[in-house]
Amino acid sequence: MEVQNIVISRDLGAEVEEAVGRVSPDRLFVLTDHTTRSLCLPRLRECSPLVAALEPSRLISIAPTDDNKTLDSLTSVWTALGEGGATRHSMLINLGGGMLTDLGGFAASTFKRGIAFINIPTTLLAMVDAAVGGKTGINFRGLKNEIGVFNSADTVILDTQFLRTLDRANLCSGYAEMVKHGLISDIQTLAQLLRFDLDNVDYELLADMVAKSVAVKERVVAADPHEKGLRKALNLGHTAGHALESLAMEEGRTVLHGYAVAWGLVCELWLSVVRCGFPTDLMRQVAQFVRETYGQFVITCKEYDRLYEYMTHDKKNTAGSVCFTLLGGVGDIRLDQHASRDEIFEMLDFFREGL
Ligand code: GLY
Repeated sequence: MEVQNIVISRDLGAEVEEAVGRVSPDRLFVLTDHTTRSLCLPRLRECSPLVAALEPSRLISIAPTDDNKTLDSLTSVWTALGEGGATRHSMLINLGGGMLTDLGGFAASTFKRGIAFINIPTTLLAMVDAAVGGKTGINFRGLKNEIGVFNSADTVILDTQFLRTLDRANLCSGYAEMVKHGLISDIQTLAQLLRFDLDNVDYELLADMVAKSVAVKERVVAADPHEKGLRKALNLGHTAGHALESLAMEEGRTVLHGYAVAWGLVCELWLSVVRCGFPTDLMRQVAQFVRETYGQFVITCKEYDRLYEYMTHDKKNTAGSVCFTLLGGVGDIRLDQHASRDEIFEMLDFFREGL
């Protein structure tokens, strides 16, 4: 996988021109979802004469939200590229959140065996996680990200001005991935994250913190692009988190991905204390932050079997047991930690009872 060019934006128009110019495509396309088409495309057109000049057939739009990250949406993008005259030398700009950059990245990676693409993430979750690191794909037969490829965007442009379009819940959702990056890096970064006021956002400071957070992910991905080892560190909080997210979906409770990750971090830090000696007081500090910011996801013991079942289906498992990324301390990453059913149930007891 190519090393990804990640730009912390100062001048969106100039950065788009440069990123497109480096590839010199014969045709340029922009993919949005219906939300980013109305909220974010006008800003991109205002900043970039190249995008402003595109005729309507080069502006592709799909339905938003993760339940549309489907083969049908993918087909509609391939069709629009084909009808708009895209060749192997064309380029796609993906403007949107994680769903859009995942699907758009996959569409570009597979159209005529792969065309160049640029990601311009517009949500915090996409900026610090989804749009960076080369994972692309779609959901399939009810399974998240079941079909996809590793393939880096030529350039990822991070323009934190787009964060001003986000509501609090979506901001908090992406922030959970930043807390995860803090936990796998160093105590100063984590402390800064736990201090930040999400009710009264200092966007300048947030922009610096986003740059720092992305640098953590970049380092990990550069060392292990295909998730054979260190990249599994980025799964901290996600084994329990995905199970809670799947349970919520099954029960028709709406939960944003980052909220499930935040609750998953609490679960897995408890397991880190028990299994790897992670400091209890720090685990409690993070748990309190999560409770104050994300509230409590209510579960009962009757749901433990379902949650356990979801964890056993996690992509990252090897046959037969549930595998976690845990921590011995901040930045002290312990990969491939297998936990028994009893330990997982105790972890859920801790989560259910709160602090
Ligand atoms: N979202 C985790 C990763 O990119 O590996």
